[in-house]
Amino acid sequence: MHILVTGHTGFKGAWLSLILASRGHDVSGIALDPLPGGLFERADIASLLRDDIRLDIRDRAGLEYAVGATGADLVMHLAAQPLVRESYSDPRTTFETNVDGTLNVLEAIAATPATKAAVIVTTDKVYRNIGQRAGYVETDALGGDDPYSASKAMADILTHSWMTSFPGAPTAIARAGNVIGGGDVSKDRLLVDLVAGFEAATPVSIRYPDAVRPWQHVLDCLSGYLTLADALLAGAGTGAWNFGPDPDSFQTVRQIADAGAELWGDGARWVDESGGHLHEAALLTLDSSKAKRELGWHNTLPFPGGLEWTIEWERAVRGGADARDVTLAQIERFTERAGDASWTRRF
Ligand SMILES: NC(=O)c1ccc[n+]([C@@H]2O[C@H](COP(=O)([O-])OP(=O)(O)OC[C@H]3O[C@@H](n4cnc5c(N)ncnc54)[C@H](O)[C@@H]3O)[C@@H](O)[C@H]2O)c1
Repeated sequence: MHILVTGHTGFKGAWLSLILASRGHDVSGIALDPLPGGLFERADIASLLRDDIRLDIRDRAGLEYAVGATGADLVMHLAAQPLVRESYSDPRTTFETNVDGTLNVLEAIAATPATKAAVIVTTDKVYRNIGQRAGYVETDALGGDDPYSASKAMADILTHSWMTSFPGAPTAIARAGNVIGGGDVSKDRLLVDLVAGFEAATPVSIRYPDAVRPWQHVLDCLSGYLTLADALLAGAGTGAWNFGPDPDSFQTVRQIADAGAELWGDGARWVDESGGHLHEAALLTLDSSKAKRELGWHNTLPFPGGLEWTIEWERAVRGGADARDVTLAQIERFTERAGDASWTRRF
């Protein structure tokens, strides 16, 4: 199968491209240039691709041409401005990329008869956070206070409207939360900062050590996206789907930092700089019962598994191991462990 991944140069997109290529699919990508030192560069993903297209998804005409030229069977749309803090400093780029960019992708797919299905990736932050303890379900109200969350909620509503209003390739929305895994180099992500500090033997300052966060390994998230794509290609699965970690993977930042430091070894440390900061907004979690019940998906690497695999990856690659080999070995181990919950059916 020929699969087009938008955002293939990013963290999730690079893992997804490697999974698909390693399973014998043709993979093409559309994205901006990769950040230095991330998985895309380290594992030389470019050499595995049929088309490696560097294009801004805000360029409507260029995107329509590029998607049509690839003629992919399946489109996985991951390209986005995904950082909350960045969305405050540059809200216009965030809205244009996440909203207009998604509209451009949907239009380009509609103009490409070869495309049989599409998965549009949003986030857990699309839900209006009303401070409830229970996980949010797919029918809960959408909203979003910060520009990133609002832009993703808008992309989600836009995709729903598009799917409902226009016949075309079966489309689904995938909502997942914060993910961890080897090769992430994005700004403002706890594990990225921790690992950089551990390696440099510089203790990392942590401001909200008691904040509880849901942690999910990138492979569990991607197995959800691919299970969904599988369902779409089989004539089911349209609509919105949550793919979140289970409650046993909700841990405080302190627990993650402590466990990460211990796994890293070499006297790795972090520093508590909470000094009276007020607590952040209530934890927002996903209820993924629908995906478990109807798609047969489940998490395979609950805490501490996902954290162990992330530290293992970073330790090995920063110690000189080949990034592609390390990533492929983790993909194979995951496939064995996950069984039916992995991409073993069509992918
Ligand atoms: N990583 C997480 O914890 C997380 C959590 C929830 C949702 N998501 C969603 O998953 C998707 C992938 O996230 P990620 O963590 O891999 O992010 P990332 O920042 O690592 O990658 C983003 C990708 O989008 C591309 N991109 C950004 N702006 C673009 C533009 N204008 N035109 C073309 N390409 C553009 C980048 O080049 C890159 O390939 C995003 O849609 C994000 O919102 C991520």
